[in-house]
Amino acid sequence: MRPEISFIGAGKMVSAMVSSLIRSEIYIPDQIACCSAKDGTSETLSTATGIQRFEGVDEMLKQKPDLLILGCKPQQLSELPPSTLESTEDCLVLSIMAGITLSRLDQSFPKSRNIVRSMPNTPGQIGQGVTGYLFLQEANEKDKAVISKVLSSLGIAYLLSEEIDIDKVTAISGSGPAYLFEFACALEEAGVGIGLEPKIAKNLAIQTIIGSARLMEASDSHPEELRNQVTSPNGTTQAALESFSSDKLREIVQRAALAARNRSRELSNA
Ligand SMILES: NC(=O)c1ccc[n+]([C@@H]2O[C@H](COP(=O)([O-])OP(=O)(O)OC[C@H]3O[C@@H](n4cnc5c(N)ncnc54)[C@H](OP(=O)(O)O)[C@@H]3O)[C@@H](O)[C@H]2O)c1
Repeated sequence: MRPEISFIGAGKMVSAMVSSLIRSEIYIPDQIACCSAKDGTSETLSTATGIQRFEGVDEMLKQKPDLLILGCKPQQLSELPPSTLESTEDCLVLSIMAGITLSRLDQSFPKSRNIVRSMPNTPGQIGQGVTGYLFLQEANEKDKAVISKVLSSLGIAYLLSEEIDIDKVTAISGSGPAYLFEFACALEEAGVGIGLEPKIAKNLAIQTIIGSARLMEASDSHPEELRNQVTSPNGTTQAALESFSSDKLREIVQRAALAARNRSRELSNA
């Protein structure tokens, strides 16, 4: 069977997308193909999911897929064979690579039908991600539906109106998981600092973040309201929040997001 979707790459993100597309019965395994640089990752993915596997990009693209997904690392784009250019005539191309602009993708795939640049995040690996994306040119309804369906396999997907928004998405949700992981480390260290056993401090920190995230998801209330609900006047939480406030936590986060957005711009323009 001719695959409808072909993935270049078979690593963490591609594996998450493929598993979810099959699990949700959006595609059957025969409609999907992948290849990787060495045999390892594509063989593992193909064995686990039953999708088609090809020895290399050339072989895979001879099948003329309708949608080609670029799931390799950004620096690996220039390693793709030049024949990729001819083989992607009239193909819809979706990139999940960080930092590769639409104009760079357009140079690499000038004969494609349309190109999509997206910015997923790491929780996408467990279907809990959030992705911002946009098309190079105005897309037809069918292509819009396909891309929305495919990116939703990683979690929630938002169509953006301008490419500069990708840098902003990168600063908030793209890099955001690392901010939360850093906060988990800080909370763990604080636990050890006030005398808890390291293992207990780690578990308390991680479980508090997981539980609070699930509560935010389950509740209709804004995080500000949820915070107020656990903050009794003159209580322990208020003492900690006042310490955050006097250290200007929100300004610290604002500066961090600005630094990430600026770096994303620099990397995209490099
Ligand atoms: N990981 C995340 O949560 C995350 C979040 C946001 C965006 N992204 C983006 O998603 C993309 C994939 O990330 P990942 O973490 O899934 O990477 P990964 O696990 O390292 O997988 C990369 C895959 O690309 C394959 N590959 C490399 N060069 C190739 C070539 N010339 N031809 C065919 N396949 C090739 C690799 O094959 P071998 O194994 O054989 O080398 C591997 O299967 C990246 O561009 C990244 O920017 C990832």
